[in-house]
Amino acid sequence: MPVTVVVGTQWGDEGKAKIIDLLAGEHSHVVRYQGGHNAGHTVVVGDERYALQLVPSGVLYDHVTPVIGNGVVVDMPTLFGEIDTLEARGISCKRLRVSTLAHLIFPWHQRQDAISEAMRGDSKLGTTLKGIGPAYADKVRRIGVRAGEVRDRERFRTMVKERAVQENSVFASLGAELLDVDAVVAQSDALATRLLPYLDDTVNLLHAALTDDAAILLEGAQATFLDIDHGTYPYVTSSNPTAGGACAGSGLGPRDITRVVGIAKAYTTRVGSGPFPTEVHGELGDRIVDIGHEFGTVTGRRRRPGWLDLVMLRHAVRVNSLSDIALTKLDVLDEFDTIRVCVGYRLNGQVLQVFPDDAEVLARVECVYEDIAGWKQSLRHCRTESQLPAQVQRLLTLVESQTGVPVSVVGVGPERDDVVVRRVAS
Ligand code: GDP
Ligand code: IMO
Ligand code: MG
Repeated sequence: MPVTVVVGTQWGDEGKAKIIDLLAGEHSHVVRYQGGHNAGHTVVVGDERYALQLVPSGVLYDHVTPVIGNGVVVDMPTLFGEIDTLEARGISCKRLRVSTLAHLIFPWHQRQDAISEAMRGDSKLGTTLKGIGPAYADKVRRIGVRAGEVRDRERFRTMVKERAVQENSVFASLGAELLDVDAVVAQSDALATRLLPYLDDTVNLLHAALTDDAAILLEGAQATFLDIDHGTYPYVTSSNPTAGGACAGSGLGPRDITRVVGIAKAYTTRVGSGPFPTEVHGELGDRIVDIGHEFGTVTGRRRRPGWLDLVMLRHAVRVNSLSDIALTKLDVLDEFDTIRVCVGYRLNGQVLQVFPDDAEVLARVECVYEDIAGWKQSLRHCRTESQLPAQVQRLLTLVESQTGVPVSVVGVGPERDDVVVRRVAS
């Protein structure tokens, strides 16, 4: 039975949620496998726009069971805020399942995130300040509190209290404001009551579903170049958005996966700090940002714009075993005279064969571009391949020839139906 992974191939915000929503129609489960409420996933259906942070993007379909997998870090206030907002808009979240193995985010994590960023000064990472890194750090240090702990409330309260007291001693040594331990325990305890009915052994739930011929979609947040291992370290997030992380973060095995769809924007954006070879500054960059509405869903920050980078995409193909690529937001480039595509890097006059394994080196590469004439017409109405102008076809051919992977979906607008489905790899 199909198990599809959807993964970002750049630095996030590629339009993953829209493609997940498109694919969810033919899947029974949509599973978030990593990250937390640092993600901002937008789905547009008619006049309705849904901005999701923790709830999987398949929630809009009645037939889909949305699952928050064991690899996610869960901020309970955000989760319940999101559920309340969705339910107020007529979207039921009753089917939502949350892994007992997922780790919880607490107020000290957010405070640690802010302190750590402040201590870095000018070299700050530009995190979302949601406490994601500190929560994953606690997981790896084996001092995290997992969602399943709320099943024994007394034990849960004790754990939260102990952790809050420990973190307060660190805050005290830094001269930082202290947490109100009793308030944190009381608030966490109240949230735990709400979490209980959603909890599940999602690993066994997903395997049982597979046995029953379910079709499962694994929803990546962030992206390949924000991956803690494969991204532009240290300017990365603290989880593994790459396809390998989909197994660790859901409990499905590598041989269960049948398709890996990489989502790439027809240009590139990045929020926060870090090297960005194809970055475009000045008026041209502002134009991309304005037309593409490139402002963060979660933090409202302006996204840094740049051209499509096929060196990155080739690397993403390797790291994720991509079966096919969904190329999104082509319509944003409708009015550009020339569309630039980076096809290689040069360093000190030498062509680099592969994506460099060092962010410092990446910051110094020179891009080799291929220029494609703009199509100078609206793509919004296009629904079939034959309606795509020749210049778009040229761009798609360039992407396919440089990456060795077919472009299966082309995004021509923000709405659910604004796509051209070219071919679907099996
Ligand atoms: P994600 O984090 O990868 O799910 O992406 P975001 O939701 O953060 O950002 C993508 C933005 O682009 C959202 O506002 C989407 O509604 C929008 N979008 C997605 N695909 C397309 C497309 O093909 N064309 C246009 N114009 N907008 C798109
Ligand atoms: P979606 O799923 C874009 C970036 C932050 C920062 C770095 C580390 O919507 O694509 P973190 O708070 O995770 O420790 O921040 O990662 N970042 C994202 N950028 N889209 C996202 O998610 C992101 N999630 C984190 O801006 O540079
Ligand atoms: Mg986003």
